[in-house]
Amino acid sequence: MKTKKIIKGKLLSSISPLEILYLDPGFFVISEDGKIEEISKEMPKGAGQDSQFYDFSGKLICPGFVDIHNHLPQFTLSGLYRGNLLEWLKDIVFPAEELFSSPEVAELFAEKFFHELLRRGTTTTSSYVTSHKDATEIAFQCAERSGIRAFLGNVLMDQKAPEYLIKDTRILLRDSEELIEKWDGYDGGRLHYVLTPRFALTCSFDLLQGIGKIAKKYDVHIQSHLAESKAEIEAVMDMFSGFENYTDIYLKAGLLTEKTIMTHCVYLNNDEIETLKKTGTKISHCPSSNRFLQSGIMPYRKLEKSGIPIGLGTDVGAGYSLSMFSEMREMIESSKTIHFLDPSANYKPITSIEAFYLATLGGAKALSIEDETGSLEKGKSADFSVIDIEQLNVCDEDFYSKPEDLISKLIYGNGENYIEKVFVRGKQVFRK
Ligand code: GUN
Ligand code: FE
Repeated sequence: MKTKKIIKGKLLSSISPLEILYLDPGFFVISEDGKIEEISKEMPKGAGQDSQFYDFSGKLICPGFVDIHNHLPQFTLSGLYRGNLLEWLKDIVFPAEELFSSPEVAELFAEKFFHELLRRGTTTTSSYVTSHKDATEIAFQCAERSGIRAFLGNVLMDQKAPEYLIKDTRILLRDSEELIEKWDGYDGGRLHYVLTPRFALTCSFDLLQGIGKIAKKYDVHIQSHLAESKAEIEAVMDMFSGFENYTDIYLKAGLLTEKTIMTHCVYLNNDEIETLKKTGTKISHCPSSNRFLQSGIMPYRKLEKSGIPIGLGTDVGAGYSLSMFSEMREMIESSKTIHFLDPSANYKPITSIEAFYLATLGGAKALSIEDETGSLEKGKSADFSVIDIEQLNVCDEDFYSKPEDLISKLIYGNGENYIEKVFVRGKQVFRK
């Protein structure tokens, strides 16, 4: 019986925001339990009769993407524009999420959603489901079957949303504990529960505090939205008038921890940035969504300088594509816009290598799973894509012999179209 796998191809993987590993050709051995045993420039010496050889010569092998923020029920509505965030939520998102009260709809779309992520090379996702406990349960079952790594959360709302979506505070907290006990850490940590207060506007302070207590009791992840648009901040501060700023609400509720991801963070003042930094909170950058809803542009360099770990999220359906190549492209282009609007600020546009880092290892760090996934490294899980770059219409390979140019070509050339195979824990989860 062949229990190990040996992979050969052009290996490309982030080491840090500025450094990339590129082995052409490179090899790695996958153990029976799906871990990378060794990486080398030559055929591994230990390769024996117990190994199956996968020859992907000429193809690119890169780590699976980590999309740290998206909304499962919104996949079907992406691209529908109805004004800014609050109008769009009311007119499009809330009615669409109510469709998930039907278990049939919940199953159909959850199955499709994980498949669509995997085929674009995303092997880890952190997703909001809806405020229906059953739909969340179904999403976990579908994620379990699909082979993806997933952090999923029941969306928690007890006010300021349509009656059909809000729930009693106590019921939401009780359901959260039940879902945590059942799913957090499932299948050796492939699935996790993440406490998901939608955002301060749709949560009473009692609910936020209750979530903070549960997060502490079970040491689980938290995800929410923060400082996305000016109108949103105004509405939140009207409701929570006794607080210093938006971040202060989450801080006082006990929601800012090392396992918290706050999404957007377009408009944070220096005190708020300091608070996120001190509490170990992570940031999800969602540039497509921020442009689509005309929310603004997150000042990436400023937040990066503060040292807060940042990952990339598609934020589908305000983001319009589940492709992390598309999100990287938007990240780079939006940074050029900042530079263009104020050249005197000397804002350095983001490079393809930095964007790639955020889409892989940066995201894994934001989710505190960098020991497990996010790069091709000895000891990590074998989560990777095989990309047929020969289809990229390159006139002369010499132009693309540098990894940063190759990444750039994929980012600007809809690289997701060339993904042939995807593996999680060394097991194939997608084949074209
Ligand atoms: N803020 C609260 N809910 C949402 C949502 O579903 N999408 C986005 N982009 N922002 C939000
Ligand atoms: Fe979102």
